[in-house]
Amino acid sequence: MKDKMAKIISLAKRRGFIFPSSEIYGGFGSSYDFGPLGVEMKRNIKQAWWIEMIKNHENVFGLDAAILMNPKVWQASGHLTAGFADTLVECKACHKRFKKDEITGKCCPECGGEITEPRKFNLMMKTFTGPLEDEASITYLRAETCQGIYMNFENVQKSMRLKIPFGVAQIGKAFRNEITPKNFIFRTREFEQMELQWFCHPREVDKWFDFWKKERINWYGVLGMQQKNLRAIEVPAKERAHYAQKQVDIEYHFPWGWGEIEGVHNRGDWDLSNHAKHSGKDLRYFDEETQEKYYPHVVETSVGVERSLLAFLIDSYQEVKGGRTKTTKATKEVEVLLKLDKKLAPIKVVVLPLVRNKPYLVKKAKEVYKLLKPHFVSLYDEVSSIGRRYRRADESGVPYALTVDFESLEKEDLTLRDRDTMEQERIAMKDLVKVLKDKLEG
Ligand code: GAP
Repeated sequence: MKDKMAKIISLAKRRGFIFPSSEIYGGFGSSYDFGPLGVEMKRNIKQAWWIEMIKNHENVFGLDAAILMNPKVWQASGHLTAGFADTLVECKACHKRFKKDEITGKCCPECGGEITEPRKFNLMMKTFTGPLEDEASITYLRAETCQGIYMNFENVQKSMRLKIPFGVAQIGKAFRNEITPKNFIFRTREFEQMELQWFCHPREVDKWFDFWKKERINWYGVLGMQQKNLRAIEVPAKERAHYAQKQVDIEYHFPWGWGEIEGVHNRGDWDLSNHAKHSGKDLRYFDEETQEKYYPHVVETSVGVERSLLAFLIDSYQEVKGGRTKTTKATKEVEVLLKLDKKLAPIKVVVLPLVRNKPYLVKKAKEVYKLLKPHFVSLYDEVSSIGRRYRRADESGVPYALTVDFESLEKEDLTLRDRDTMEQERIAMKDLVKVLKDKLEG
């Protein structure tokens, strides 16, 4: 387990996916930065989710609400009370902290020391607005993006003239003062969420819950995640989030075991009715046809961008013993292949001159790179042998490598190598953009 995670973490750094934050100062807690490939992959995940929600479903609209909100929001939503807290124990000897439910016995799992009585820690990240750091200026970084959606439920409904059922989708940062962040980017204090709130008639909430649960499980499969590594688990009442009447966790089989990547929640009217109570504003929906006035019930789907990115990375990671590119050196080594879905792959195509000491090949390859750059996230790579460059591309998950060779100059074509099959075909320069578009988007 540790071995596989160590390899993933090392690859993520080596290839520019994920770096530890503030590294020259020794890092900072569980903070990570996303490098050139990581940021592209994150964008691709968010784009795939956005298209899925906004384009592939009817009656779903987007929103981008502020991170800082009136602190009364968090009072009403129940996040400032015991509901949104972890129960922790601390080892009296080594002072490591653990979530209570992670401890099986009465001793510290690390050093065997005695552990303290459990204590509650609220997870909200506190901050101050304005120049004075007093009680009146306390506010919080949002712990879930969906509260911004509830704040705008009526604004969206009225401005878009929507009838129930409809959905509001949002992607954005969320913050939690996690006491035990762990497993690389799996549990961090700052992360991004992609959340849908689906407002429906209370009578229809079970039907919609099942609908969205299926849709969300399918999404991972469409993006290439292996079915054997995915499962959906209904969460028993005592373990549910404080707002959930029903909760299904979509879990991925990480190297350390099963872990939640997405939650599907029936939040009932928890949020709208509590916000109505605390704000004094009637947030009920009025159905003109039936003359009925009611709080819509909410089905929520909530996925972490970084957590799903980690799952996609792990799922696509393969080692090929003996080498796949068959260069003399490589045959003895283990080669790494990142078989990411083409939609998620950060770099779509890499352009390689066969050798770099022939100026006319380099010139032609740079022309090809220039031609492709406006259409695809592309790389140009001329350093080291062609076999090594293919390996670098495979490790970075690049679906297609284009090699400009001696024939290219006479025939105005080049070879296109497929990452997964390693098959090569010659493509005419004039057709290149279209062929790649078909392959990548088809
Ligand atoms: N609005 C509902 C909600 O926030 P959640 O189960 O607490 O539900 C949803 O979080 C998703 O957000 C999780 O499935 C996970 O992917 C992501 N997430 C939650 N806490 C996280 C953390 N500390 N680090 C990274 N991702 C996190």
